[in-house]
Amino acid sequence: MKTNDRFRTVRVPLRNRSYPIYLGTGIHSSLGSMFRRHDLTGTAVIITDTNVAPLYLKSVKQSLAASGITVHSIVIPSGEREKSLHRADSMYSELLRWKIERQSTIVALGGGVVGDLAGFIASTYQRGIHFVQVPTTLLAQVDSSVGGKVGVNHPLGKNMIGTFYQPDFVAADITALRTLPRREIVCGLGEVVKYGIIRDRKFFSYTVQHIDAIIAKDPEILLRIAAECCRMKADIVSRDEREKNLRAILNFGHTVGHALEHAGGYRLLKHGEAILLGMVAETFAALRLGMIAPIDAGRIEDAVLSVPLPSA
Ligand SMILES: NC(=O)c1ccc[n+]([C@@H]2O[C@H](COP(=O)([O-])OP(=O)(O)OC[C@H]3O[C@@H](n4cnc5c(N)ncnc54)[C@H](O)[C@@H]3O)[C@@H](O)[C@H]2O)c1
Ligand SMILES: [Zn+2]
Repeated sequence: MKTNDRFRTVRVPLRNRSYPIYLGTGIHSSLGSMFRRHDLTGTAVIITDTNVAPLYLKSVKQSLAASGITVHSIVIPSGEREKSLHRADSMYSELLRWKIERQSTIVALGGGVVGDLAGFIASTYQRGIHFVQVPTTLLAQVDSSVGGKVGVNHPLGKNMIGTFYQPDFVAADITALRTLPRREIVCGLGEVVKYGIIRDRKFFSYTVQHIDAIIAKDPEILLRIAAECCRMKADIVSRDEREKNLRAILNFGHTVGHALEHAGGYRLLKHGEAILLGMVAETFAALRLGMIAPIDAGRIEDAVLSVPLPSA
């Protein structure tokens, strides 16, 4: 991992599909040069949502256009409902109308919803075209933009239709978190706490000590946290890309969490909030089954309870 105060690079080692994650401040304005470095010279189609577009679409477009790239954009409404085959279908039509070809690049500019959907489009349109993730939520910067799981929801289940498709690179601009609502920061924290529990005791303590700084969006702490989470996810994914064994630990809290999200009709609880509650429930299950020491269960519960979840 390359390190300085403002910029870090984490590599995801996957043989011929290895790629870098660039994290730092002011990354959006460097996207054009990153495209050149990665030999992405064709047309780019930016997929984003109605909350992110007014904030960041213009600067991202400008950076790409300055590098001689022709840019189109598709702006979808925000929210989990958009992660659907129906929305994907209308996007394929748009790409075909614009005569988007195989050397073109899909750019996901937004949170996990945009990332999963745009990645699914990139992996299926003309059997797969270039894909760049530009995550703008904490959850997407620490988790969903890394590892290549892309897909859409089906009325009978979340994330049921999808593929594994690695991006050419990920570019996470920490500055973009400034505009993120507090509730979304808390959602990202859910996944951050998860990494500490499943993989790294020291990181767990560091996160718990810095919860207030994360909520206050301290850019140095956020950069450090995001880079560490990406490093851990990159390590797990490089050992088990297709979730045959080890990668399943990333699902800690998700079995119960997904059930809670579903029970609330995907409106009551957001993904990260559901995962926080899911981790407590699964810890209790592990405690009852004698799979975890009471002292560790207590530490997990205390950590989750120190995250300021909305009360109702
Ligand atoms: N592929 C994976 O490995 C993986 C992992 C975890 C979660 N996910 C998926 O990610 C999705 C959740 O992602 P999410 O929490 O990022 O939700 P999201 O994409 O819905 O974003 C949350 C909200 O924040 C807004 N937003 C995004 N960036 C912003 C910014 N910088 N400033 C202001 N507002 C901004 C969005 O418009 C949206 O309203 C779920 O669909 C989940 O299944 C995927
Ligand atoms: Zn998750």
